Amino acid sequence: MILVTAANGNQGRLLIPKLLAADQLVRACVQSPTSAVRLRAMGVHEVVVGDLSQPAVMAKAIAGIEKVYHVGPTIHPRERAMGMSIVDAARAEGVSHLVFSSVLHAITTDLVQHEIKRDIEEHLLSSGLEFTILQPANYMLPLKLRPVFEKAVFELSWSLERHQSLVDLGDITDVACTVLLDCERHAAATYELVAPGRYTAYELGEIISGVVGQPIEVREIDADTYLTAWVGDADSHQFTHQIRVLRAITARYSSHDFIGNSNVLTWLLQRPPTTFEAYVRQQYHAFQQRASSRD
Ligand SMILES: NC(=O)c1ccc[n+]([C@@H]2O[C@H](COP(=O)([O-])OP(=O)(O)OC[C@H]3O[C@@H](n4cnc5c(N)ncnc54)[C@H](OP(=O)(O)O)[C@@H]3O)[C@@H](O)[C@H]2O)c1
Repeated sequence: MILVTAANGNQGRLLIPKLLAADQLVRACVQSPTSAVRLRAMGVHEVVVGDLSQPAVMAKAIAGIEKVYHVGPTIHPRERAMGMSIVDAARAEGVSHLVFSSVLHAITTDLVQHEIKRDIEEHLLSSGLEFTILQPANYMLPLKLRPVFEKAVFELSWSLERHQSLVDLGDITDVACTVLLDCERHAAATYELVAPGRYTAYELGEIISGVVGQPIEVREIDADTYLTAWVGDADSHQFTHQIRVLRAITARYSSHDFIGNSNVLTWLLQRPPTTFEAYVRQQYHAFQQRASSRD
C-alpha cells in the first residue's frame, strides 16, 4: 500500500487517480473530514484524518505501508517536523521506498521553505531508506490563473523583471506515478522537474494575453498584501511562519531569477513537458466551459 500525504492538495488530487488507475492500493492522509469524504468518493482505499505532525496520526498513517509519497503542506509551520518524522517513521516501519516531493534548488537556504526541504533531504539521505527526491519548479497553478481570466490582471509578489521557470502539476504527478510504480529503477535519484522556458512576469502576461485575446495588466504586489489575500481578516500574529516565508520569497525572487532546465523532466516523461502556453490554453478552455455551463 502507498501512503500519499497532503493527499487532497495540488499534487495529491492529481496523483491519487493515477495510482488508482494503475491498480495500486492507496492510503491518503489529510487534515479535514471534508477532504476525507472527497478522497473516499475517489476510490481511495484508506484515509487517515488528522494533523500529521502529531505522533499518533503519523503512527496510524505509516502502519503497514510499503511506499510513501510525501508532500509537505504549503507554508505549514510544522513542515520540517512532518518531514523529519515521516522519514524516521518510515525507517522504523520498514518502508521499502520513500519518494519526497522537495523543491527546485532546495540548497537556496535564504528561502525558508527551501531550507526546510534541504534539511529533510539530508535527513532522508542519511536514513538508510531507499528514496527518490523530486524537485519541482514553481507550479503552474489554476488558482493563479482564475483571477487573471476574470479580471485581466496578473499579480506577482516579487519583481516583475525577474525570470522564473515553472512546471505543470500533471507532469509532476505523471513522474511521481512512474517513480512509485518502478521504485527500483528510480532509487537514490534526485530529479529536477522543470518545464521549458524562463519567463518574466511581463512575458507570462503576454502569453496569457495571446491565449485569451485581450491585454493583461501585470502588477507587483507586496508579500503582506498577498498574505492578506490568502488568510483574510485572521489575526496576523497566528501567521508568523507564513509571513516569514512570503517575505523571504519576495526578497529572494526580487533579487535573483529562479530558473531550471527541462532535460530531466523530458527524459522522465518520454515526451515534451507541458509548456506554460499549453497549460494556459487548457485552463482557459476549462474556464470557458464552466462559464458557459453556468449560463
Ligand atoms: N506552489 C509551488 O509553486 C511549489 C513549487 C515547488 C514545491 N512546492 C512545495 O510543494 C508542497 C505543497 O504541495 P501541494 O501544493 O501539492 O500541497 P498542498 O495543496 O499545500 O497540500 C494541502 C493538503 O495538505 C493537507 N494538510 C494540511 N495540513 C496538514 C496536516 N497538518 N496534517 C495532515 N495533512 C495536512 C490538507 O488537508 P485538507 O485537505 O484536509 O485541508 C490538504 O489535503 C510545499 O511543501 C511547497 O513548498 C510548491
